[in-house]
Amino acid sequence: MSQHVKSEVDAGILTLTLTRQEKKNSLTNDMYGALADALEQAETDPAIRVVLFQAEGDSFTAGNDIGEFAAQATGAFKGELQVIRFLHALARATRPLVAAVQGRAVGVGTTMLLHCDLVLLAEDALLSTPFVNLALVPEAASSLLLPARIGHVRAYAMFALGETIDAGSAVAWGLANHAVPANALRAKARQTAEQLARQPLGALVTTKQLMRDAATLSARIDEESAHFHERLRTAEAREAFTAFAERRPPVFSKLAG
Ligand code: COA
Repeated sequence: MSQHVKSEVDAGILTLTLTRQEKKNSLTNDMYGALADALEQAETDPAIRVVLFQAEGDSFTAGNDIGEFAAQATGAFKGELQVIRFLHALARATRPLVAAVQGRAVGVGTTMLLHCDLVLLAEDALLSTPFVNLALVPEAASSLLLPARIGHVRAYAMFALGETIDAGSAVAWGLANHAVPANALRAKARQTAEQLARQPLGALVTTKQLMRDAATLSARIDEESAHFHERLRTAEAREAFTAFAERRPPVFSKLAG
């Protein structure tokens, strides 16, 4: 278990809390590993009927740790990549997934919500998927799920221009159920998870299986992942990661692509 993912089981609810708030809960390989382990456990542990994602601090998550992206790009990162396990576990999850999102949800912070069954936002939530800004491509089957959910042109603006969506638009476009005052978010999410935990689990699981095609989603995750890892090693991506580290805008105009 990562020191930055807190895991608790209580009253049928597995609550997974991101606790790397000093880095805006950006996700490291260790954190992905812990989240994947927990989702895998949820599939077999009879004590778990619902999974609730939440986060400490002012942001849900700023997405993948960009320093780790840079290390993967140069080959400096050694070890087994856990993100793919996490994404497949999301796609294959049969238990209901609930998310409570405040502040920024960047990259995978937004795309993981496409795998959640009920999404609650704080009124200050801001969703974005700036993959192209980082010279990368969509992941988590979001190239399929996001246009299907909100339409091609809105999804394209989010992917290609890094357009940020506020809580009101996210609810209006079907990315979330409700926006609530920030100080009510945790309680509302817990109440929602408790309501699900009281429902008959067999019927919940079959309903979710009927609503989602896990095999198609998994295949898309693998397809995206191949492109993503190819893009990570490009000059464009190196410029994007260096610019983030140097706190300046990236300059892509002299790079051929
Ligand atoms: N990876 C690694 N570190 C990150 C991070 C990320 N994705 N997002 C934020 N951090 C770190 C910052 O480097 C900073 O660290 P420092 O205090 O050691 O300098 C700390 O978290 C706070 O972030 P900061 O940028 O100062 O906060 P902010 O409130 O001004 O901005 C964000 C918040 C989320 C808008 C901004 O951090 C951001 O754009 N992050 C990158 C998001 C991104 O592109 N993610 C990848 C998506 S594929």
